[in-house]
Amino acid sequence: MVQAPVKEPFDLHGAVGLSVENVTRRFQTRRGVLAALEGMSLHARAGEMVAVVGPSGCGKSTLLELICGLQRPDCGRVDSEPAALMPQRDLLLPWLSALDNASLALRVAGTPRRQARAQAAPWLERFGLGDFRDTRPAHLSGGMRQRVSLLRSLLAGKPVLALDEPFAALDAITRHEMHGWLARVLAAEPRTVVLVTHDVEEAIVLADQVVVMSPRPGRAVAAIDVTLPRPRHATDPSVVELRDRALSALGVER
Ligand SMILES: Nc1ncnc2c1ncn2[C@@H]1O[C@H](COP(=O)(O)OP(=O)(O)OP(=O)(O)O)[C@@H](O)[C@H]1O
Ligand SMILES: [Mg+2]
Repeated sequence: MVQAPVKEPFDLHGAVGLSVENVTRRFQTRRGVLAALEGMSLHARAGEMVAVVGPSGCGKSTLLELICGLQRPDCGRVDSEPAALMPQRDLLLPWLSALDNASLALRVAGTPRRQARAQAAPWLERFGLGDFRDTRPAHLSGGMRQRVSLLRSLLAGKPVLALDEPFAALDAITRHEMHGWLARVLAAEPRTVVLVTHDVEEAIVLADQVVVMSPRPGRAVAAIDVTLPRPRHATDPSVVELRDRALSALGVER
């Protein structure tokens, strides 16, 4: 495989990449006020990957939308460099090719189609989608769709990437391949990443820090630093130990 050139488009050294400080977010529903997050905090250093795990409905997607500025907190503060969201549902447009889907964020930002396609094409090539550039999403595998979707967020060119369960729908082998793929993408294009996942093992294998959330209203109940060397394997004893720590913070008995 052709290696992507190493470059740093953003200054990732120095200041805090993003901080969520004591944030509360409530929604008005037909049954009254629903607190999705209450007193949620999270801090990521620039260039770091923070994985967020928590029970279903605890406010993880809401948290990512707050980080990306798509929602505003009712209380508390969110400070982040501009962030691109890879949403939980795959929002590829069925009538567009892989290449046009990958370059969509560039088009939305005003880049002319030809230029946007020229910018996105080498990325498809590098990550094994070169032969599928004209293929529509319905004819791509799940892993390929996820890669197109992730490339679209990446090509938005923001220093922070918010990834909402990017690998959830994939089988174990594809997910494992995608872990390696993501690591290569980030080596070529460093970003501060907030990765929501329901897979605690995946969180420990990939991230520099794992934030464990409580059930709704969500708040951080643990922030576990993962300083283990890479590549990490799910069966490494130190990975297993940290996984068990995260699971016990989640309240899962083993
Ligand atoms: N726009 C909205 N209006 C009303 N309620 C909402 C809205 N968005 C989210 N909620 C509610 O807020 C809570 C948190 O939702 P959110 O989608 O952030 O959780 P989540 O942790 O991402 O869940 P999952 O693990 O299932 O993806 C849920 O109870 C959800 O129903
Ligand atoms: Mg969600």
